[in-house]
Amino acid sequence: MKNLASALRNKSKFLILGCGFSGNFFAKTIRKLGFTALTSSRTIKKDQNSFVFNSEEGRVPNDKIFDGVTHILSCIPPDKNGRDPVLGSLKSKLKSLPLEWVGYLSTTGVYGNTEGDWVSEIDKPNPLQKRSHKRLNCEKEWIESGLPVQIFRLPGIYGPGRSTFEAIKNQKIRVISKKNQVFSRIHVADITNAIIYLLQNKDSLKFHQIINIADDEPCSQEEVIQYCYDLIGLKMPKPILFEDAKKELSPIAQSFWMENRRVSNKLLCKTLGYKLIYKNYKVGLKNCFLNI
Ligand SMILES: NC(=O)c1ccc[n+]([C@@H]2O[C@H](COP(=O)([O-])OP(=O)(O)OC[C@H]3O[C@@H](n4cnc5c(N)ncnc54)[C@H](OP(=O)(O)O)[C@@H]3O)[C@@H](O)[C@H]2O)c1
Repeated sequence: MKNLASALRNKSKFLILGCGFSGNFFAKTIRKLGFTALTSSRTIKKDQNSFVFNSEEGRVPNDKIFDGVTHILSCIPPDKNGRDPVLGSLKSKLKSLPLEWVGYLSTTGVYGNTEGDWVSEIDKPNPLQKRSHKRLNCEKEWIESGLPVQIFRLPGIYGPGRSTFEAIKNQKIRVISKKNQVFSRIHVADITNAIIYLLQNKDSLKFHQIINIADDEPCSQEEVIQYCYDLIGLKMPKPILFEDAKKELSPIAQSFWMENRRVSNKLLCKTLGYKLIYKNYKVGLKNCFLNI
């Protein structure tokens, strides 16, 4: 990590568009490495590094924000029409900048349902949900923008402050059992570190425009919840069969159970040589547990 400064020009400046869970983690890390990172939110924040960008209200950053920007990470999801909010509002501005790199956080939802099979970047996207069609459209917009974009496809993101522990604490946990169903996931620290690793080794690694960032062990939700209860030292509630639980789930929650896939990280971890900090949910959740 300490080589990032020498891999990038010293005066690299990052803009993080959409400073939510992942964007905030990335911004904090990159600042610790000595870089400037400005972050956007839809509403005014006290933080002096924060600026307002709200595509729905047409609130765009002033030109000064973009001065000297070399790297951009967009963490903003598609708008309701399936268009990319950043490109819709800021494309010509971004194209006028001497950008070295643009990262876009996408989702592995674009692969659709593989009935538990592994999917990798060479598989053709086959979105099932409307939101995943929208996402694929945004990926396409970014690729066609002519900007130096790299797309990161992410499965379920978790980390300190957003994990099964919070669901247990807030009594929002439902233990659902569905035969052969797995989910892939990624710890937020690995999103940041993988991106930094790729930037750091930009000159020696072959460029890949689309990269999955996922951990090594897709598994059932039940296993994950059981592990959290074991760490807390409480008894897990009895699992409910999916067929019985289904009618009480919101349409969005139901839609997640309609897709079953194992997301491969071979490109990132074997071909490109990134070493995961949290290779599976056990080590990742231990980290969350220690930070409750
Ligand atoms: N959560 C997951 O498990 C998961 C899994 C795979 C992929 N993803 C995708 O990966 C990306 C990062 O995920 P995350 O969970 O870290 O995101 P997040 O916490 O939900 O943050 C999203 C950010 O986008 C901003 N935003 C949303 N709509 C906007 C608009 N119209 N104009 C300007 N800003 C807007 C939000 O602004 P405010 O800060 O003002 O709210 C927020 O900062 C997202 O695109 C997400 O859909 C998420």
